[in-house]
Amino acid sequence: MVDWPDCMAPPGRPGCRVVHLERVDSTNRHAARLAAAGAEHGTLVVADEQFAGRGRRGREWSSPPGRNLAFSLILRPALPDDRVPLLALVAGISLADTIGRRLPEVRVKWPNDVWCRGGKLAGILCEAGAPGPAGRAVIMGIGVNVNSRAEDFAPEIPAVSMARLAGRQFDLPLVLRHLVEGLDRDLEIFSAEGFGGRLLERFRHRCLLTGKRVAIEAGDRTGAGMVVGVDAGGRLLLDDDFGCRRFFAAGEASILSHGGCISAAGR
Ligand code: BTN
Repeated sequence: MVDWPDCMAPPGRPGCRVVHLERVDSTNRHAARLAAAGAEHGTLVVADEQFAGRGRRGREWSSPPGRNLAFSLILRPALPDDRVPLLALVAGISLADTIGRRLPEVRVKWPNDVWCRGGKLAGILCEAGAPGPAGRAVIMGIGVNVNSRAEDFAPEIPAVSMARLAGRQFDLPLVLRHLVEGLDRDLEIFSAEGFGGRLLERFRHRCLLTGKRVAIEAGDRTGAGMVVGVDAGGRLLLDDDFGCRRFFAAGEASILSHGGCISAAGR
């Protein structure tokens, strides 16, 4: 079993209590069960292995045991409802900047995937927890490909790992600590000034899609065109082929090249 710490932050901060599990269905599901029973803000659930890890849009998230990070934070944010969806974008830029200290070419693929050199490095699944005795919770689930090898992923999955990109192995508990410290700082920035200031500037700096032609799927809305940026509300701005500016608050974008899709949207 990986040697996870029991605590990595003072009371009331992300990582103040660490629940480590050798094997679990999904850290998000486990965190939701703890949150419903009243677990405190900042509780972190980390597992060596997930056997039913979940991704966005109903996909699976698979990860070889003991090589990658799969963890979930229980947050009880004092935020107005309309700002809660932005937590996923905050997490995306936070992870990208922390990993970017080791791999400077890391990019954030709107809304919240972390990519590097044409492959997906990390994904985020934020879910609402069922209301319990301690009120509302948000479960922020994060999967990072840290030490996985090429053969750990099916060839059709555009995944990369930090180890493959850097040519060396990383210490999992140390990477977790750095990511959680970064999230703590960035969640504080978000609650103090919202997304439109420093976080947006950092997001724009690392935005993979700006200046690229994409196809976007957002429920029953679809679109294609040139990405011109992301606004203070976290929306993707797209100039479509008829010259109209379109705004997407959520969705999944695929980069197009010569009319074809060159990067699958997730995994
Ligand atoms: C995505 O990109 O589709 C999101 C992937 C999120 C995966 C993480 S791994 C830890 C947590 N537990 C889950 O079941 N999913 C998230």
